[in-house]
Amino acid sequence: MRHVIVLLLGLFLGFVAALSLANALQRRHAWLRGTMHVLEHDLRGAREATRANACAAPAALPQVAQRMRLVAEQLRPALLPEGTHDRVLAQYVSQLQDELGQWDPTAACPVQAEALTRIGHACDACHRDYR
Ligand code: HEC
Repeated sequence: MRHVIVLLLGLFLGFVAALSLANALQRRHAWLRGTMHVLEHDLRGAREATRANACAAPAALPQVAQRMRLVAEQLRPALLPEGTHDRVLAQYVSQLQDELGQWDPTAACPVQAEALTRIGHACDACHRDYR
C-alpha cells in the first residue's frame, strides 16, 4: 500500500512539474510573439507613411524607429536564453539591429522606403530559418 501511495505521489509531482514547465514555455512564447506583433505593426505603419509621402509628420517616424530599436533589443534574450548559443540566430538579430540603426527616420521618403525594405528583408531572413 505504501508503495502505491509513493508511486501516486511521484506521478502527481511529476505532473505538476511538467505543467509548470509547459506554462513557463508558453509565457516565453507569448512574449516573443508579442514582440513580433509590435515590430510588424510598426514596420507596416512606417511603410504606409513612406508610401503616402508622409515622412515629415512631426516625430511620428522617429518615435516608431526608436520603439522598433528598443523592441529589437529584446529579441536576443527572448530567442537566446542564457546559456544557449546559436551563432546564426544571433547574427540574424544583429542584422535586424544594424538595419534599424541605419534607418534615418528624418530622411526623405524614398530613402526611408529603401531602409524599410532592407529591414523587412532582415525579418524575412530570420523567419526563413527559424520561424
Ligand atoms: C532573429 C530572428 C527573427 C527576426 C530578426 C524577426 N523575427 Fe519575427 N519571428 C521569429 C520567430 C522565431 C517567430 C515564431 C515565433 C513563435 O511562433 O513562437 C517569429 C514570428 C513572427 C510573427 C508571427 C507571430 C505569431 O503570433 O505567430 C510576426 C508577425 C513576425 N515574426 C514579425 C517580424 C517582423 C516584422 C520582424 C522584423 C522587423 C521580425 N519578425 C524579425 C524570429 C524573428
